[in-house]
Amino acid sequence: MADPHLWWQSGIVYQIYPRSFQDSNGDGIGDLAGITSRLDYLEWLGVDAIWISPCFKSPMKDFGYDVSDYRDIDPIFGTMADFDVLLSETHKRGLKLILDFVPNHTSDHHAWFLESRSSGDNPRRDWYIWKDPRRDGGLPNNWLANFGGNAWTFDAHTGQYYLHSFLAEQPDLNWRNPEVQQAMFDNLRFWLNKGVDGFRVDVMNAIIKHADFPDNPPNPLWKEGQHPFRRLIPDYSQDQPEVQDIVRMMRSVFDEYKDRLLIGEIYLPIERVVRYYGTNGDGAHLPFNFQLLTKPWDAQLISRTIDRYEAALPPGAWPNWVLGNHDRPRIATRVGRAQAPVAAMALLTLRGTPTLYYGDELGMEDVHIPPDKLVDPPGIEIGPEAGRDPERTPMQWDATTNAGFTGSREPWLPVAENYAHVNVEILSHDPSSILSLYRRLTDLRRAEPALSIGSYTSVPAEGAVLAYVRKHKDSRFLVALNMGSSSAELPLGEMKGNITLTTFHFREGEHVAGRLDLRPDEGVIVRLA
Ligand code: NOJ
Ligand code: CA
Repeated sequence: MADPHLWWQSGIVYQIYPRSFQDSNGDGIGDLAGITSRLDYLEWLGVDAIWISPCFKSPMKDFGYDVSDYRDIDPIFGTMADFDVLLSETHKRGLKLILDFVPNHTSDHHAWFLESRSSGDNPRRDWYIWKDPRRDGGLPNNWLANFGGNAWTFDAHTGQYYLHSFLAEQPDLNWRNPEVQQAMFDNLRFWLNKGVDGFRVDVMNAIIKHADFPDNPPNPLWKEGQHPFRRLIPDYSQDQPEVQDIVRMMRSVFDEYKDRLLIGEIYLPIERVVRYYGTNGDGAHLPFNFQLLTKPWDAQLISRTIDRYEAALPPGAWPNWVLGNHDRPRIATRVGRAQAPVAAMALLTLRGTPTLYYGDELGMEDVHIPPDKLVDPPGIEIGPEAGRDPERTPMQWDATTNAGFTGSREPWLPVAENYAHVNVEILSHDPSSILSLYRRLTDLRRAEPALSIGSYTSVPAEGAVLAYVRKHKDSRFLVALNMGSSSAELPLGEMKGNITLTTFHFREGEHVAGRLDLRPDEGVIVRLA
């Protein structure tokens, strides 16, 4: 019988931040033709799908997450013809292409917003969220913008405030308006008709607000110096029950096509994230699971988190794991260089679709950006700790100028200083490198269904060890990860077998029984007899 799993269930997703992957025309900014020129690398790496952060027309206030035309490519990234080549070259290699849909807000340059703000009775007025000042002239409510400051900006021309959950240049759409829904769904269809394989949906949980716009309650745990957005609990500005209706409608657009993937970006506790699967599979295929990038790197805690996640999944829901993205510190910085290979092994052996962030396969780290080179608005407005520039630096391809990312022109963000030895060219020729490990992991995962579609059972372990078994038909693998920097051991009970793959690359073939010794920061995969 053919494997009933879909491509996005057994496959691996690779996220590309397009400004930072490969520049093809020497302007210092990555582009679509650059990505096309690196598809062979992605094929070699063994990923199945690429997700590209927004490449649509944009004034780039939030580097593409402020879209001014959902149906065109921004000239910085190239042309529609470049896009068509990228899509067909991706498909030619048997890879899938996932785009990024930003439904919560448009750019303030979008034609809809220009119309909406032009007068109080414009037919598109209600496409955005406009409110009168309070009677005392104050803001409509106390909501905060994610990037600092209030979520309301006054428009003197029409005497009302508009809502923006992010920058003032990113006005929120009014998703309670059926015209907005249909227009945005048609924007999705435009790309799905072209043959795009799926979308990652930006802040999926925020697109509907409470109908009455009540004040958000204060967060009693917030302290001076912490991110200002956390001062309030966003009880009324996100995760409203009605958002599920929108997600369901969005999903039905995907279901008009064959095998398309709907991913949701949702930062919420596990029990609330899993609601976005919908009921009876009518929600997102993959509501992103960010537990590995938000939870402390502690084996016992992660083990409980996995169990909690597995238990919370509704019937038929397919799990997924994310290790990094363009909004969060890089994994190698967060858990340390020594643990990065262990994290790689976790990502590629846990049950569910893995999403890997460009450069993490090289162990790329956050790059310190000097104050005069900061470009990310929250980094500039709130402070460098809130900024995302450090994790968006250029991909490190080789030891030539600018790491092979761009020619002689200065790249839009500085290249990491370590690029002369941390780059694709060097690491791909070093069998003990993290890149070779990623490569071996994707190979093994592809060869062994137990690691992609197999079941998950946790194995009791102590201290810094995280252990579990993946099983499919007769084949079983034990994964043992030492998430600490001291040696550790795992009692094996009845389990025995041969080591298939280790992070240190010199124990393959070793027979283990009784107990498994783990070196500091070592991860091991054992094929159980
Ligand atoms: C989440 C995106 O990942 C982030 O980069 C962006 O700034 C916000 N949503 C606003 O679109
Ligand atoms: Ca370019």
